Amino acid sequence: MSLAATAVPDDEGERRMIPEAESFQYRGGQLFCEDVSVGDLAEQHGTPLYIYSAAHLRRQYRRLADALAEVAPCIHYAVKANTCGAVIRTLAAEGAGADVVSGGELFRARRAGIPAARVAFAGVGKTRDEIAFALREGIEYFTVESEPELERIADVAQALGARARVAIRVNPDVDPRTHVYTSTGRKESKFGVDLERARRAYECAAARPELEIAGIHMHLGSPLADEKPYAEALDKVAPLCAWLRERFPTCRTLDLGGGFGIPYKRRQKPFDLDAFAAAVIPRVKAIGLRLAIEPGRYIVGNAGILVARVQYVKDNAFRRFVIVDAAMNDLIRPPLYGAWHEIVPVRETAGEVVADVVGPVCESGDFLAQERKLPDVREGDLLAVMSAGAYGFAMASNYNSRGRAAEALVDGANAMLARVRESWEDLVAAER
Ligand code: LLP
Repeated sequence: MSLAATAVPDDEGERRMIPEAESFQYRGGQLFCEDVSVGDLAEQHGTPLYIYSAAHLRRQYRRLADALAEVAPCIHYAVKANTCGAVIRTLAAEGAGADVVSGGELFRARRAGIPAARVAFAGVGKTRDEIAFALREGIEYFTVESEPELERIADVAQALGARARVAIRVNPDVDPRTHVYTSTGRKESKFGVDLERARRAYECAAARPELEIAGIHMHLGSPLADEKPYAEALDKVAPLCAWLRERFPTCRTLDLGGGFGIPYKRRQKPFDLDAFAAAVIPRVKAIGLRLAIEPGRYIVGNAGILVARVQYVKDNAFRRFVIVDAAMNDLIRPPLYGAWHEIVPVRETAGEVVADVVGPVCESGDFLAQERKLPDVREGDLLAVMSAGAYGFAMASNYNSRGRAAEALVDGANAMLARVRESWEDLVAAER
């Protein structure tokens, strides 16, 4: 059975899998990532284990680049989605830049081979040390979230005898129609400068000789289902862009942010890149600035799975619980956002039960799925949690003193252990 929906006829119903996760397919009843058996990798490295497909990373990166080729966008991979060095290196080799939100992410991006000149630094709370580090590295630009931040960046640049390129993040007040925790382009949010105040903020920037106005930035939220909020936001910022172009010849970039959605469910369609391109390209051309985008999830989301082993199958009077060795500390999206991740057996298994898939953490919120139809799995069986490449390991913690999972990157018939599982010693290594 193929995980590509296009290859599976409609009448297969529930057996149909996530359309975009083309790198994960069953062969002879066993789940493979590209040409490597998921079960073999789990035996070799243990569970819980994140597995990423390099082919998927490249495919999604190229899909975006191709769809927008007419305006040759600058693609800054949003490192926060997946910070694994092997993942960032794979994208660096494709020519990706990076969108970072901390000194730590800048450090990781540079270490993985992303040129500083292709890095945009975002975030509402940049510290002086982070700003200084970014200036010394020579990043492409800061996306600036407030007037006080402009002043701080200018002060740090002055102290270093450097010049900082800035793009002010504007808040276009567009409803991205996504989870309230991940909506960022609404008036109420902490992000960006209101459109009405943006001109004044740019005047502040122009008054400081240490600052060069490099562009304008926005990010509406994540994940977004379609192109409409982007089109609406571009229409709202177009007059400001015209004003910027006229005033500041150094203003070249229009950074549209990220947030392009992915299918998490069997019946969901992939984000319609053609419709996105049809909406964005003419608007960007009319505005006359160079387009930059910051995709995270779109590139890594369906590149990854989290493999867990069933520890116990427990029945109570009301429910069946499939207790696995992965938990909310490994993948927090289901309890945090009510997010849905498909869960499939690594070895195709007959039967059907309805169960909660839960971890060993001592909270009732520790679930990967609730009241989910599953094959009749037993102790020792392996399950794959799909679409776990974005905001999976990146949001993992050591809660309940659980070491974070191992990560492997598959490329064709090759697999490499990208990160070893954290040991108990690792848990206490930083303590004094
Ligand atoms: N640019 C900026 C300024 C952002 O804040 C984000 C994500 C991105 C780009 C990338 O968004 P993406 O293309 O990956 O959707 N933890 C949540 C998602 C939080 C997104 C935060 N910002 C989740 O698991 O769904």
